[in-house]
Amino acid sequence: MTSVSVKDLRLSFGQVTVLDQLNLDIQEGEFLVLLGSSGCGKSTLLNCIAGLLDITDGQIFINGRNVTWDEPKDRGIGMVFQSYALYPQMTVEKNLSFGLKVAKMPQGEIDKRVARAAEILQIGPLLKRKPSELSGGQRQRVAIGRALVRDVDVFLFDEPLSNLDAKLRSELRVEIKRLHQSLKNTMIYVTHDQIEALTLADRIAIMKGGVIQQLADPNTIYNAPKNMFVAGFIGSPSMNFLRGEIAADAAGRPAVVAGGVTFSLDGYHAGETLVPGRKVVLGVRPEHVKVDEPGGTGEVHEATVDIEEPMGADNLLWLKHAGHTMAVRTAGSRRFSPGTRVRLTFDMTLASLFDAESEERI
Ligand SMILES: Nc1ncnc2c1ncn2[C@@H]1O[C@H](COP(=O)(O)OP(=O)(O)OP(=O)(O)O)[C@@H](O)[C@H]1O
Ligand SMILES: [Mg+2]
Repeated sequence: MTSVSVKDLRLSFGQVTVLDQLNLDIQEGEFLVLLGSSGCGKSTLLNCIAGLLDITDGQIFINGRNVTWDEPKDRGIGMVFQSYALYPQMTVEKNLSFGLKVAKMPQGEIDKRVARAAEILQIGPLLKRKPSELSGGQRQRVAIGRALVRDVDVFLFDEPLSNLDAKLRSELRVEIKRLHQSLKNTMIYVTHDQIEALTLADRIAIMKGGVIQQLADPNTIYNAPKNMFVAGFIGSPSMNFLRGEIAADAAGRPAVVAGGVTFSLDGYHAGETLVPGRKVVLGVRPEHVKVDEPGGTGEVHEATVDIEEPMGADNLLWLKHAGHTMAVRTAGSRRFSPGTRVRLTFDMTLASLFDAESEERI
């Protein structure tokens, strides 16, 4: 069943239209991540769903009900922001129960819900403290708790972890995933962090300039990006882009010639016929290149190690290859001195091919 449905949404601030003709259906129980760089319209879209912004045109449905003109409190949603927005003078317990008291819920029910939220989020020992006596991660847990006690259908998160340091962020990320696994609520989660998106999402909607570029599961987004923007945004370091044109390899099969060298496209599943001479961009992820290893389907390419960046588990090499720089990931146990000549093979079944002009996947 559809949980949240956004239909032909338009949102303008005065003369400036931020979202236009935006459509998005989110399934019941789905964890949907809105991903994109700063200013692409993620918060605007979330705030439209929450009812914090009056939309210019279109409709919003939650659980089949048209809520376009409903107040935020009547939409069955709970929202968690980047800034925790806790009441500083109230204890954690009061912060959790305040909204329920205002809604005149019986005290017994309030106590039950606060206890349950405290247990799920493991903040029981903190209930008598004030927000100033908590760490950032604890404050954010209380903020999540405030949405939790309301027993809502849909959780909306706007960059809830971005004020936390890296270690805490990854810890709380796991907790949010666990929360979703146990509650099974619909969650819409805004972030500009691709790792959060890949780790948490059932589906990612990746946005640019107010437009959803691709809506798919993380695996599809990573392995079959729909265009060069998506391909370049996801993955760190970014996918290598090699500009060239379609030609034939020694055996007469389709290939890409880039920087004077030939990459056989054997094993690549193109969605259309590859006409010789077409200008294309070949996309290769750093971990899909083999260095000095047997195997691989295509030609062997010579390259020179320029920089080596050991990263513990991985070793990232920046190579000079056919007139461009290429990032390649190898095992951390393998070390390469700058200036070393290496032999590369490419697995084209894992590559991406884009039209050079439209930048769309071929
Ligand atoms: N109240 C406003 N008046 C005018 N323009 C606005 C207003 N709020 C947002 N915008 C503009 O709308 C665009 C989208 O903003 P939005 O806050 O949705 O971006 P975002 O994707 O959430 O970015 P960030 O990652 O920085 O939070 C931006 O260009 C922003 O400048
Ligand atoms: Mg934002």
